[in-house]
Amino acid sequence: MKREINITQPEYLIEDWPGKYDVFSWLEYIVTVPNPIFFVTTRKENGAPNANLSSWGLLIGEKDNYSSLLALLDNSHTHNNILREGEWCVCFPSFQHYRQCFETIRLNQPDNDEITDAGLTVELPKSVRAPRIAECPVNLECRLEWHRPLYENSRWHLFAGRVTHLAMDESVMVPDPAERIQIMELMYNVRSTVHPMTGEQYGPNTLGILNRVEDIFGKQGHPKGSG
Ligand SMILES: Cc1cc2nc3c(=O)[nH]c(=O)nc-3n(C[C@H](O)[C@H](O)[C@H](O)COP(=O)(O)O)c2cc1C
Repeated sequence: MKREINITQPEYLIEDWPGKYDVFSWLEYIVTVPNPIFFVTTRKENGAPNANLSSWGLLIGEKDNYSSLLALLDNSHTHNNILREGEWCVCFPSFQHYRQCFETIRLNQPDNDEITDAGLTVELPKSVRAPRIAECPVNLECRLEWHRPLYENSRWHLFAGRVTHLAMDESVMVPDPAERIQIMELMYNVRSTVHPMTGEQYGPNTLGILNRVEDIFGKQGHPKGSG
């Protein structure tokens, strides 16, 4: 039976870390729709590589407008770096590097090379100055088009940037999409859950990787087209 859920945050909800439901809507933990994990890489003011492990973001756009949409905390280095330099790269890491990914958060300092310090490798970009990450099989170089706060007084800031260049490892250029997804080992940010009726919370956030992609349309392709 489908229940209608009041979107007002219930008073009985307990934060398991201070400010949790200020930074994130409590609905994020009710809906639990995972987002893919990616890095937003930029240059710090001193030119050092900066990495922001992110999951609020999308790749969207038609024709020559393939674009990256990001939601960044307005106190992050990345927020300031993009406002200063107008560029970033989106780099998708594989599950095999999840430890290094989280190290970038622990080693987040104002002036250090976070990519190298975390055990990853800086790769030179082609069309921007923001660094790429060699271990990430898919890297999109992006140039800022527009930005704005999510809402007035929101601590989340949206950035849209046009993709100016793509670098992709040959190992993931596999024609079968199901196989490609297996090889890429994309990680998903799977939130801890909250029971919408009781507020009961379950567990810490977890990591997801897709382990099932079904070719349901076969050789005929999708009814509205084979793409
Ligand atoms: C799984 C995961 C997803 C995250 N997603 C985002 C995000 O979408 N936007 C954001 O601003 N921070 C996000 N963060 C927090 C940043 O990774 C963290 O604040 C980082 O240290 C900021 O780096 P910076 O100050 O160098 O930009 C996420 C953290 C984790 C662990």
